Amino acid sequence: MPGKLNVPEPLLPEEISRELRTKVIGREIRYFPQVDSTNTRARALARAGAPEGTVVIAETQTAGRGRRNNRWESQPGLGIWMTILLRPRIPLVPLQEAAGFTMLAAMSVVRAVEHVCGLSPRIKWPNDVLIGERKVCGILAEAGGSSNARYMNPGTGEVARGPGMGNARYILVGIGLNVNQEEGDFSPEVRARATSLRLARGRVVGRVALTKELLQGFDSIYLRQPRFPEIVELIRPYSATLGARVRVEIARGATREATERAAGEAAGETAGSAAEPRYFTGLAVEIAPDGGLVIEDDGGGRRVVHSGEVSIRSADGNYV
Ligand code: BTN
Repeated sequence: MPGKLNVPEPLLPEEISRELRTKVIGREIRYFPQVDSTNTRARALARAGAPEGTVVIAETQTAGRGRRNNRWESQPGLGIWMTILLRPRIPLVPLQEAAGFTMLAAMSVVRAVEHVCGLSPRIKWPNDVLIGERKVCGILAEAGGSSNARYMNPGTGEVARGPGMGNARYILVGIGLNVNQEEGDFSPEVRARATSLRLARGRVVGRVALTKELLQGFDSIYLRQPRFPEIVELIRPYSATLGARVRVEIARGATREATERAAGEAAGETAGSAAEPRYFTGLAVEIAPDGGLVIEDDGGGRRVVHSGEVSIRSADGNYV
């Protein structure tokens, strides 16, 4: 295979496919030793007509993307870097439905890790997966289609024109799960905030078994096509955010937030300029039936956020 990487236990399709109990997800697996980004590769495949459930998986990414234009570190052979192509049957894909898929993906990661590793990760709203206070998995959902409607990236809350979420033809769910990194494998920039399953468990984790479990779990939930508010009921038990003190950085261009802000400025909110983020602090008390996060802000108001970066206050008082 050209560009073959010498990694232990490569995530070869024939290994993952062996006795894989899925109906849709991962029936087709595209494996790459190295890609720019599995989301980018999956988008090209989606445009070329790849079937629903196609999984793009790579040993490493040279341009792995995170939310908010962050780079995603994808050390060769040490994580699960993959993208699942969904083609939901509903003709119109409301923004929150797309966000729902990412929440279900986060839940599938948690359940797979519980099953394979005996660890209990939790979901930081809306779809980061943490072990303790450190991030072990991130999810980047992107949509594409033919309309020119305005759309919101469910991962970032950013609103743009382009391939439209309004009648999206496909959704790409990109999952980055840190599996076998040691501390020194992470860059100094993320080292204090990131962890891996190996670090949490104290021994190497089999990536093939974990990938299979993850695909199987996501397949069975995806086939049920749960909608809000059922999705909320499913994910609530796994939430790291509920009951926590949080700081919310409001995404610029998140229209629903803008509307809420226009309705009244809450005390405790830090005003920001165009160059500065805006944030407020409060207690996360509920996940709303539509998936939004309900926060009692420090000014005594009640706010529902549908996008924006949420940080949880740790024991030492810092927000992580
Ligand atoms: C985040 O910022 O938390 C989201 C990270 C998502 C990373 C995954 S790795 C596989 C897929 N391909 C990408 O380029 N990004 C996602």
